[in-house]
Amino acid sequence: MSEANHSPGGTSPARATPGKPEGLLPAAPEKQPLKPPDVVTFKQVCKTFGSGAAAKVALQDINFTIEDLPNVGELVTMVGPSGCGKSTVLRILAGLKPHFPPTSGEVLVLGKPVTEPGPDRGLVDQKYSLLPHLDVTDNVAFGLKLRGVARSERLDRAAEWVKKVGLQGSEKKYPSELSGGMQQRVAIAATLILQPRILLMDEPFGSLDPGIRLRMQELLVQLWSEQQSTVFLVTHSVEEAVYLGDRVFLMAPNPGRLVEILKVPRPAESPEASRRKPWFIDFCQALLRRLEEESPASRGVKA
Ligand SMILES: Nc1ncnc2c1ncn2[C@@H]1O[C@H](COP(=O)(O)OP(=O)(O)OP(=O)(O)O)[C@@H](O)[C@H]1O
Ligand SMILES: [Mg+2]
Repeated sequence: MSEANHSPGGTSPARATPGKPEGLLPAAPEKQPLKPPDVVTFKQVCKTFGSGAAAKVALQDINFTIEDLPNVGELVTMVGPSGCGKSTVLRILAGLKPHFPPTSGEVLVLGKPVTEPGPDRGLVDQKYSLLPHLDVTDNVAFGLKLRGVARSERLDRAAEWVKKVGLQGSEKKYPSELSGGMQQRVAIAATLILQPRILLMDEPFGSLDPGIRLRMQELLVQLWSEQQSTVFLVTHSVEEAVYLGDRVFLMAPNPGRLVEILKVPRPAESPEASRRKPWFIDFCQALLRRLEEESPASRGVKA
């Protein structure tokens, strides 16, 4: 796996101050600023489903670190052919069965091993999971209720989020009365309202029409810069991966591996304007070529 400009960091040993006579004054230990624990660490993570002849290696030796950089939440996008283990990575990080626990390896969040789901991680799942007996407002407010937030406050906050995702007017509808794209926006609002430190999004915009998709991308960038959370976002859109990602994780299947980590400049413009820049077009084309090289069809392997 190759990775550009990514160093794990560390502390250097204290050194004597040049020019000071040694032995006259007790040497004051040089103060090193304490490095905060990394936000996420995957060390040699493997996951095999099933056993014997039916065993399927979904992930093999996944290694990466997301550092806790001051005042910056990193947005990582993940791309790769179907079945390369993108959802498995997210669900292991979320602590969700049957993907969690990994078969071997170590997963740390803020320096501590993941043992179960927790409020520090919020997942917008590939299959959006709403509660069918609750209306839009109550679905969005549900997590706040579990956290004991008072009814009037949670209804106010839910109303704000319903508006942010463009669903005002549908507050009293039930999931069965909503389109797939509307359900997905409810699921996004229900997770974002909880402001998790780590936001895990599995193809969150896949079922949205192109106009709403662009609006949701902008909303995500805005929220993420306000909240400085770390975001992992899985997408099948190369343009979305490059527009949103500080780093793009490229995965390959059979077995699922992380083959490359690409650093991307943070676009200053809207998604529409960025997409017309020559560097953006070149970056997307290079990533598309790498994706094609890693896809089972181009390697003559059956998925
Ligand atoms: N619960 C499970 N039981 C058995 N095998 C599974 C299970 N979940 C995933 N797998 C297998 O693990 C591999 C990785 O699956 P995963 O869902 O992580 O892929 P993905 O990259 O998210 O694919 P897609 O882009 O289609 O969503 C696949 O071969 C899949 O069949
Ligand atoms: Mg998936």
